[in-house]
Amino acid sequence: MPLETVFAGIKLRNPTVLASGILGTNAEILIRTAKEGGAGAVTMKSIGPCEKDGYANPTILEWEHGLINAVGLPSPGYKNTEEELKQLEKSGIPLIASVYAHSIEEYAEIAGFAEKFKPAMIELNMSCPHSKGEGMPFGLDEETAGQVVKAVKKVSGKTPVMPKLTPQALNIASIASACERAGADAICAINTLGPGMLINPEVRKPVLANKFGGISGPAIKPVALRCVYQIYEAVKLPILGMGGISNGRDAIEFIQAGATTVGVGSAVYYRGIGVFKEVCDEMVQWMKKNNAKSLEEIRGVAHGH
Ligand SMILES: Cc1cc2nc3c(=O)[nH]c(=O)nc-3n(C[C@H](O)[C@H](O)[C@H](O)COP(=O)(O)O)c2cc1C
Repeated sequence: MPLETVFAGIKLRNPTVLASGILGTNAEILIRTAKEGGAGAVTMKSIGPCEKDGYANPTILEWEHGLINAVGLPSPGYKNTEEELKQLEKSGIPLIASVYAHSIEEYAEIAGFAEKFKPAMIELNMSCPHSKGEGMPFGLDEETAGQVVKAVKKVSGKTPVMPKLTPQALNIASIASACERAGADAICAINTLGPGMLINPEVRKPVLANKFGGISGPAIKPVALRCVYQIYEAVKLPILGMGGISNGRDAIEFIQAGATTVGVGSAVYYRGIGVFKEVCDEMVQWMKKNNAKSLEEIRGVAHGH
């Protein structure tokens, strides 16, 4: 099969991955996305330290070039996800458990909990605010990002650890390098871009109750591709690239920038969970038309060396 992929030691039947936060933490839905939708792997919505409601509605809006959302990381609290994690472990589907926290210690605590359920990988969502009240995501600072990875690696056993970086970093490549030095097994890029805002001129108000939110979908594809391209030049780690992938041709662009796997988030809203199968078919069609026999053959070719 031309799309079979090994990502940080994990065998996947194809490189498409459900992005975090798109279909929640419910095991049945995540299993369906892999089995019926055709995703090579699925990511759970990031789980945090305690039960938390998100922001008030409206929290998510579709606009001409993608989505804008301020859901506010609603979370059942990691301890309440035990049943879902057990069910997912039993199902055998490749699961990426995603973790967010407010301190380095909390990252290790939640990742240690997730590790007990033997997910295929642990993703570290590094785009949430710092506990010290500076409002700075962990992924903006090399040293802090490295410290989070180091702390999680101590409790993650054999489970690969993948920090998810923010495009807000001034130099995303140097953050990726710091994570590599700290022992990360893969890099995920990117999270939503922003914050941004949209205004409803007739109502004379911002459309989101929170006013500002993260931008995803086609609008951010050029930023995401640039990030993946720069990370590929800086590290040897495999990359899960995402941001605006809506079809097979988009996915091929990310592979050519250097990604090993490709995440799909907002496009699930437009195309349903079958988007994974469709993206795979479109990738294979593109490969046939352009005489590419394998993904290895085209990985990173946009770098020209
Ligand atoms: C409604 C919504 C919720 C999200 N929640 C999370 C989350 O909990 N954790 C996380 O790491 N990323 C979260 N993301 C970011 C996505 O996983 C992804 O990185 C981003 O949307 C870019 O991919 P896309 O353009 O394919 O949507 C969320 C995105 C959306 C649209």
